[in-house]
Amino acid sequence: MTAHVLIRNAAELVTVRSASDGPKTGTEMAELGIIKNGALAIAGGEIIAVGETDEISAKIGRADTIIDARNRVVLPGFVDCHTHLVFGGSREDEFMQKIEGRSYLDIMQGNGGIFSTVDRTREALACPGTLIDRARMFLAKMLAFGTTTAEIKTGYGLSKESELGLLKIIAGLKESQPVEVVSTFLAAHAFPKEYEGKKGDYIGLVLGLLQRVSAEGLAEYCDVFVEAGAFSPSEARKILEQAKKQGLKLKLHAGEFNDIGGVELGVELGAVSIDHLDYISEPGMELMAEKKTIGVLLPGVPFHLMTNRYAPARKLIEAGVPIALATDFNPGSCPTLSMQMIIALACRQLKMTPAEAINAATINAAYALDRGDKVGSIEVGKRADLIILDIPNHKQLPYWFGTNLVARVIRNGVVVG
Ligand code: NIG
Ligand code: FE
Repeated sequence: MTAHVLIRNAAELVTVRSASDGPKTGTEMAELGIIKNGALAIAGGEIIAVGETDEISAKIGRADTIIDARNRVVLPGFVDCHTHLVFGGSREDEFMQKIEGRSYLDIMQGNGGIFSTVDRTREALACPGTLIDRARMFLAKMLAFGTTTAEIKTGYGLSKESELGLLKIIAGLKESQPVEVVSTFLAAHAFPKEYEGKKGDYIGLVLGLLQRVSAEGLAEYCDVFVEAGAFSPSEARKILEQAKKQGLKLKLHAGEFNDIGGVELGVELGAVSIDHLDYISEPGMELMAEKKTIGVLLPGVPFHLMTNRYAPARKLIEAGVPIALATDFNPGSCPTLSMQMIIALACRQLKMTPAEAINAATINAAYALDRGDKVGSIEVGKRADLIILDIPNHKQLPYWFGTNLVARVIRNGVVVG
């Protein structure tokens, strides 16, 4: 057998494979399918052989590129399944206010928060080149930190033209840089200021836009921010039901600051994931477990906002909810591009083990983007999206926090970093 790339001698080849189809739950989340002294072979963009180095070396007669992963860990590339990566401006002044104790929702109720980024983004859309270059720069940094697939939401336009503008930028990013991009329509991120007292009109605008988004294939998912001061469950229902009719898959932001019924709504409508969950009831957990709705936890948010209120990850895992992790990269609640940082936080603040956090950042995150059959684990037939880390075992991944441990990145079979 001939390969384009052969990686061998890995101290730990962390396959993350599972016995069943679907996201991992419960005790499965602790299983990593590690092969010691592991090797894998790639042809085109695909993994064609996985096993111990002796076995794979005997199978592969010739390889164009041979990578020696001695003393290193090989992992599937990270899947960052929740980001708001295209935006204008930054919010470091607001960060200063948070240090002084002001809350996120309080800042948002003024003209700050999401609204200040909406202003900066609309300005930037007038001449989108800078916005596009910046988004590409963010994605390049993500890739260097090991993310090979990223979801990107709109939501800083909040008008017909600007939301469509953002969707087009996201579509362009799919073609113009190496990270795989998944597009989510989040016009229901906040009610824009110009629709004060006219919420129904804005919902009407979003419903109209959904038809166009679906007809032109501009997004794969529709998301709604269900929160006090954003969208109520009944407002969210109108949008999500329409999105479903139009063939979009569903996600929700729920339980970031208050539990107002987003979980129940999301489960009822068959959402693929419900994200945040810093506030969630036990019946809510049972519902998610029953329907295998993925809980995307975003520990960078309570860390950056200094709320000290983290999602009850242990209870969620015990209840049987499949857990994924993501950055939530955005200028307000979590300005990090690093999934390594999120894994470090998940272990310290959510009390997830390194193995659970790795499963959550790879295979379960892939399922949260409906790509669990293509990426997120190292198995024959899957796409060769891989990272090689400069550590001798996976437990050191969350341990050495705050530095970049990625030595090599392979995306679709090509060594890109
Ligand atoms: O996921 N909660 C809503 N959206 C983002 C924050 C957006 C912003 O503050 O700009 C989040 O936390
Ligand atoms: Fe978010």
